[in-house]
Amino acid sequence: MLRLGVNIDHVATIRNARGTPWPDPMRAAKLVEEAGADGITAHLREDRRHIADADIDALMEGLRLPLNLEMAATAEMQTIALRHKPHAICLVPEKREERTTEGGLDVAGNDNALAHYITPLREAGSRVSMFIGAQPDQIRASARIGAAVVELHTGAYADYDTEGRIAERDAELAAIREGAALAASLGLEVHAGHGLTFDNVGPIAAIPEIRELNIGHFLIAESVFIGLPAAIREMRRRMDEARG
Ligand code: PXP
Repeated sequence: MLRLGVNIDHVATIRNARGTPWPDPMRAAKLVEEAGADGITAHLREDRRHIADADIDALMEGLRLPLNLEMAATAEMQTIALRHKPHAICLVPEKREERTTEGGLDVAGNDNALAHYITPLREAGSRVSMFIGAQPDQIRASARIGAAVVELHTGAYADYDTEGRIAERDAELAAIREGAALAASLGLEVHAGHGLTFDNVGPIAAIPEIRELNIGHFLIAESVFIGLPAAIREMRRRMDEARG
């Protein structure tokens, strides 16, 4: 079965635009739970531009669904993660000036440091995931350092699709397919995410080795028009349909 993790960062983006207590990410997480999603994802960024430390405290305390904490591989985040011991930790590259996570993590170029970084997280019981592009060297390095999961970056696939650059989109899709097969053959659990929408989720959901999709911005945007539970149910329906 293909799981759906819902990223609630942008509920906090709207809250932070006004400095009010609303909309509350925890309230969104409860709705996500009721709508039948399989997990909650939240990215605690170094600049706290959306999710705040208190949101992570509330989610860890009040949530029944597993929490996937996205974070940069910094000492500060490691301390926070070890305090909370979330179900899953997804390591992402982070640049202050970027609008969103633009590329994958360079695991191959930092394998020694990352192997040391993730050891205490693994020992604390969290499933550690690497958010990477589908390049074989990044996938092999993730397996070598002992990550349990790789999350393949679908952002370029989604952007090419939106821009109507069909040949490039299809090349990205082929690379993600091959990457998923390679990762699974090395014993890694395969996830995917970034930029997924009702219209582009099908071909990614159809890749048999992928076990989980993490989707945020589009679902929160669509919920303005149809509500969060309906947006989640429709995404789930399209994922299931693609999966056959
Ligand atoms: N997966 C990871 C690792 C991410 O960093 C993000 C964005 O925070 C997502 C999934 C979700 O991407 P989107 O908000 O574009 O659906």
